[in-house]
Amino acid sequence: DSLYRFPLIKIKGIPLMCHIADNWNSVWAFRPDPLDLLIATYPKAGTTWVQEIVDLLLHNGDAEVARRAPTHHRIPFLEIHSPPPIPSGLSFIEKMDPPRVIKTHLPFQLVPEGFWENKCKVIYVARNAKDSVVSYFHFDQMNQTQPEPGPWDGYLHKFMNGELPWGSWYDHVKRYWLEREKRNILYLFYEDLKENPHREVKRIMQYLDLSLSDDVISHIVRLTSFNTMKENPMANYSCIPDQIFDRSISNFMRKGLVGDWTNHFSPAQNQLFDEDYKKQMKDVNIPFRTNI
Ligand code: PPS
Repeated sequence: DSLYRFPLIKIKGIPLMCHIADNWNSVWAFRPDPLDLLIATYPKAGTTWVQEIVDLLLHNGDAEVARRAPTHHRIPFLEIHSPPPIPSGLSFIEKMDPPRVIKTHLPFQLVPEGFWENKCKVIYVARNAKDSVVSYFHFDQMNQTQPEPGPWDGYLHKFMNGELPWGSWYDHVKRYWLEREKRNILYLFYEDLKENPHREVKRIMQYLDLSLSDDVISHIVRLTSFNTMKENPMANYSCIPDQIFDRSISNFMRKGLVGDWTNHFSPAQNQLFDEDYKKQMKDVNIPFRTNI
């Protein structure tokens, strides 16, 4: 039996796990420093990957410095609070000196307004819907704090209906896309990072107003490859106890590929998903690519 499997409670129409909803007022009241950087994603878009890239960029590619602590202590998760299950969140953020890097899965409209008022830099990472839902399905099976995912077919429908924790993938990627110019959001794609990590790491570097040599960039690309991060205890969440991340079910660092959805979608599910996708995405044209 699982320890947690938190139920969902809606905050402003968005389903969030109850331990996040219970702490919502302090999350919403959070005032960032203007120099704080936010990494925002829908779950499973490549958050941890970009967290590692950013931390290395900010420390000149120094692998030892990046190994000072696990990911969620170096770059706390805004809405997941301490105490357990996973100590991170506001209690960590408030102990750190700005400029800080902060992770969130909150949709645009739930990001504390101080981030926009203070014109904080925000990096958004998007991953194509089909690989996102497959990755999320495996994660929800192994992560005992997430609601029980149930069978794949029902899970796919929950994803399409925006019923999973943090709500609709469609609304999430669209809203940040529409806001990206006005808010100076760097909008990245997981698939671009896979295709040409050197180019994308450089883009992140430029956005952060840093100037590192091509050798340092190449070094960062090597340190943040899937296989290297998978073996790095400070980047692979191996410090999260087995009662929370049940590794007999799945690894956090699972496959790290583009196109794994083809191993999970039946032809009928794929057709239904494509039809629904066209409807949900018809108002905004985001250049997702999956042919990599
Ligand atoms: S979370 O829980 O939302 O923060 O998860 P997130 O880090 O966003 O996404 C996890 C998926 O990203 C894959 N991953 C990587 N892919 C390529 N390269 C690197 N370095 C990398 N690091 C993590 C991870 O394996 C999850 O995807 P799947 O498809 O499940 O393997």
